[in-house]
Amino acid sequence: MYPIFVQPGRDRRDEIASMPGQFRLSSDLLPKLARDIRQLGLGGLMLFGLPEHKDEVGSEAYRSDGIVQEAVQIIKDAVPELLVATDTCLDAYTTHGHCGIVRDGRVDNDATLEYLARVAVSQALAGADIVAPSDMMDGRVFAIRKALDAEGKQDVPIMSYAAKYSSAFYGPFREAADCAPQFGDRRSYQMDPSNRREAIREIELDLEEGADIVMVKPALPYLDIVRDVRAKFDAPVAAYNVSGEYAMLKAAAANGWLDERASVLETMTSIRRAGADIILTYHAPDVAMWLCDAS
Ligand code: PBG
Repeated sequence: MYPIFVQPGRDRRDEIASMPGQFRLSSDLLPKLARDIRQLGLGGLMLFGLPEHKDEVGSEAYRSDGIVQEAVQIIKDAVPELLVATDTCLDAYTTHGHCGIVRDGRVDNDATLEYLARVAVSQALAGADIVAPSDMMDGRVFAIRKALDAEGKQDVPIMSYAAKYSSAFYGPFREAADCAPQFGDRRSYQMDPSNRREAIREIELDLEEGADIVMVKPALPYLDIVRDVRAKFDAPVAAYNVSGEYAMLKAAAANGWLDERASVLETMTSIRRAGADIILTYHAPDVAMWLCDAS
């Protein structure tokens, strides 16, 4: 699956400095992109939005005419058979840059749940095929499932970022989505990189709450976790080859230090070998093209 960034405006295609070859796109450019992605035979798109305005509770994340809701409609109108997943989170939409609602200087887990449920419902009503909560609040899969079902969206699956580590490899993404936390960090809700067994507990809980696909993130530095999850659960496993992993290979390749095609394909193979059924990666269009060439 190919993650993309949608921004306001018309005919805007701005390259993300730390992610060469990746762009923030205005929504009028999406039909062409969607057709290209469909033609390449990729599994689908994952949408991230950059709102016009941020506020304390991230209200553009759940408005019916929000940036992502409009983008979903445009893509589904242009290429109905292309699978569209939406990132269900608040961080790009809040002034403080946290994935949840902030009360008394802290991220309030339980107060966040109803907002995430609203975000997921608004995305599903706009036509998203899958919602993908990336916030890591406890209990959000259940809250989202209940809200989707109540709106008649029981057929929309949840791909939960179930084992998401508090990682340094999200750096370029935070530039791309303008979502770096304005105070503190995300360690109260994302996982400690040194903890292996907690991943199993997090996945177990999300599956119990109704997750259909579980994700491990990042991918390469956490292949042992992908393997553990694959061995222990039957649910589809997704792995997110994140922005920092992309930036490393692109930088090395740009310097002539690595063969880009060979090192990217080897990376994809290793994630697959570890047990991922689905890979989210910014290399997706290149990989699809290389694999077509090879056949
Ligand atoms: C947060 C979110 C992040 C990413 C996806 N969703 C950043 C974070 O948790 O700080 C990172 C993706 C990437 O690095 O490619 N909603």
